[in-house]
Amino acid sequence: MQPKIKSKVVCTDREIGEVARVIVDPLTRDISHLVVKAGGLELMVPTEGNVSAVTDETVRLNCASGDLAKFGRFHREEFVQVQEVEIAHLERHLDVTPGEVLVPLPLLERDLSRRSFFTKFTNAIGAVLALPLIFPALKYIMYPMYQPFNNSWIKLGREQSAQTDIPKLMKFQKTVQEGFLKREFEKSHWVIKPSPELREKIYAERGGEKSLEFRDERGNLLWKNRPDAEVVVLSGKCPHLGCAFRWRKHRVFGQAFVCPCHLSIFDSTGKVLDGPSPRPLDLLPTQVTAGGEVKIIDMEFKAGKQAQIRIV
Ligand code: FES
Repeated sequence: MQPKIKSKVVCTDREIGEVARVIVDPLTRDISHLVVKAGGLELMVPTEGNVSAVTDETVRLNCASGDLAKFGRFHREEFVQVQEVEIAHLERHLDVTPGEVLVPLPLLERDLSRRSFFTKFTNAIGAVLALPLIFPALKYIMYPMYQPFNNSWIKLGREQSAQTDIPKLMKFQKTVQEGFLKREFEKSHWVIKPSPELREKIYAERGGEKSLEFRDERGNLLWKNRPDAEVVVLSGKCPHLGCAFRWRKHRVFGQAFVCPCHLSIFDSTGKVLDGPSPRPLDLLPTQVTAGGEVKIIDMEFKAGKQAQIRIV
């Protein structure tokens, strides 16, 4: 009978552990060694001369537990699973599944793995030496990713062109630096000249006073919108996934902001009336110059989050 994986291993004086794996001789196709797990160690026990009896659940060794030190330690890297090598008719000789059945890795391949270690080691040294040359180029390419937020004020349009409580879409050209490329594209935001009632609702919807404040990347106060501002500006990006939306007629809500992507619907304060948007439309830092010019800081916030997290 062949020793089985998971069988108890018993010395002449006591049980010491179990068979964790078996090792097969690829020439004779017999089990040459048992890997015995005993006291946290894995020992290679040659079957010849050491196994006195094998039953369905037990392997008996003919040595005492105190003599186990004579067996060598098992080193997994010196073996390979039988599935990975071709040994003819092995299944006819072996009946030990399930578990790890191993054959010794040929000496040549052990050398190969050692050689591949030296190749990797040499590559690593090469990489360390090349780093001072590559670093300035990497720094140049990645620099824009680590730039602080752009907090410059952008002109959006003239306040006089908006009607009270009716959102007006205002477009502007934005230039961004991506790597070493400069890109210009059109963006738009919604400008509202609110009546005092609407303005109050807009701020109430976003937690009052704190919705007027905007902070930089360090959390320092960057700008505070005036509580009695003559205009408020709502970001033109839907907080759900960033689509552009429109102010249009709606058969249930009358007039509403409607996002065509997943049908989020907002009222004129930006409050979510329906759909998947996790937060109201985002307010932007806004000021109106003495000449009636509406200016904003073009912030962008993380889509799909309830909290307003600035990303640009
Ligand atoms: Fe507007 Fe999904 S992006 S609802």
